Amino acid sequence: KPLNGKKILITAGPTREAIDPFRYITNYSSGKMGYALAIEAVNLGAQVTLISGPTNLEVPKNVNYYPITSATQMHEKVIEKFTDTDIVIMAAAVSDYRPKDYSKNKLKKETFNSIELAKNTDILMELGKNKKGKILVGFAAESINLKEYALEKLKKKNLDMIVVNEIGKEESGFNADTNKIAIIEDNGIIEELPLLTKSQCANEILKKIIQKIQQD
Ligand code: PMT
Repeated sequence: KPLNGKKILITAGPTREAIDPFRYITNYSSGKMGYALAIEAVNLGAQVTLISGPTNLEVPKNVNYYPITSATQMHEKVIEKFTDTDIVIMAAAVSDYRPKDYSKNKLKKETFNSIELAKNTDILMELGKNKKGKILVGFAAESINLKEYALEKLKKKNLDMIVVNEIGKEESGFNADTNKIAIIEDNGIIEELPLLTKSQCANEILKKIIQKIQQD
């Protein structure tokens, strides 16, 4: 199988940033895209580590599974597993911010009308600074200027490839079973794909990664 002997780290799902014991900040990610990648990568022979935020999905068979809740926990787990990895695919929707202070007691609605935020580490950007021969694949969830914004992220984060998906539509992006993606490589080649199931998208992404391994 084409990915025999390759170690792939895949992140999936949302993160939850706790405000108090009652509330948190999150996003609409269901985990479907990341889990489809994990399943297809196992089918292609890879050793898969799946680091996932909270989802309602069944854990895929034959993966090393690490559930996390917050962006800080995802950051720690990714860094721990990064050294022993050949390929990283960040499909998770990591929260860019967390509440600056966690309140141990439930905030009272009479006094609670704004939250001060602190910036989370950009995990992919940090990996891009230390990638040493590993293949780094990011995602970009965009609703306008898709390719332009994705290309900016590919360069800024020193990625080999970025998958841009259109969000804000029922059939694509968050929570859908299908996705409309374009795969952009660091050589500027863009492959725009039709609406596909997330499993088909996963296969197209992995096919591009396999081509890259064979070229290098
Ligand atoms: O889970 P589903 O419901 O199936 O939906 C799939 C998806 C839309 C969540 C997925 O396909 C997707 O686009 N994931 C990335 C969403 C996102 O966070 O995009 P971004 O443009 O904000 O971030 C760019 C890249 O940097 C991503 O690879 C992200 O994982 C990474 N990142 C972002 C912030 C951060 N603090 N650290 C990161 O590593």
